[in-house]
Amino acid sequence: MNRRTTALAAIALTAGLTLAGCSSSDGKPAGESSGKSSSESSGKPELKVSGAFMPQPVGDMAGGFLTVTNTGGEADKLTSVSSGIATEVQIHETKDQKMRQVKSFDIPANGELKLERGGSHIMFMGLKQQPKQGDKVTIELHFEKADPIKVELPVEARNHNPKQH
Ligand code: CU
Repeated sequence: MNRRTTALAAIALTAGLTLAGCSSSDGKPAGESSGKSSSESSGKPELKVSGAFMPQPVGDMAGGFLTVTNTGGEADKLTSVSSGIATEVQIHETKDQKMRQVKSFDIPANGELKLERGGSHIMFMGLKQQPKQGDKVTIELHFEKADPIKVELPVEARNHNPKQH
């Protein structure tokens, strides 16, 4: 009878320890806080501009090239570009080797808009000055939803093309 009581006490003790162990591991599983911050990506467009440049212009027109990356969950549009360097700034696409003015360029959600040689580009018409290689030209990009972004275009050599073939 004495023996039996001891055995029961031992079982009770073990159960108690197990419960204690359980409740303490319930407290804060590792990685919970980092999980919260990663789910913050909202439905808004999140735009970033990279790889911008302007080839040194020959006449009174110039082209501008850059990439707009959207890491947000909603699409946006590049609707216009402004700059003090030209009387007019347009956005052009190239179809069958001909340039054509467009009203806007799509920037897909979690995607990118590429303005590059031989394709879509920014067109500066009626340059008020002739920027030279090494200069910087400030422009402002306007979007349908996101706030405008100011970009400095470094002026590169006439034949500059970062695209690799
Ligand atoms: Cu053009």
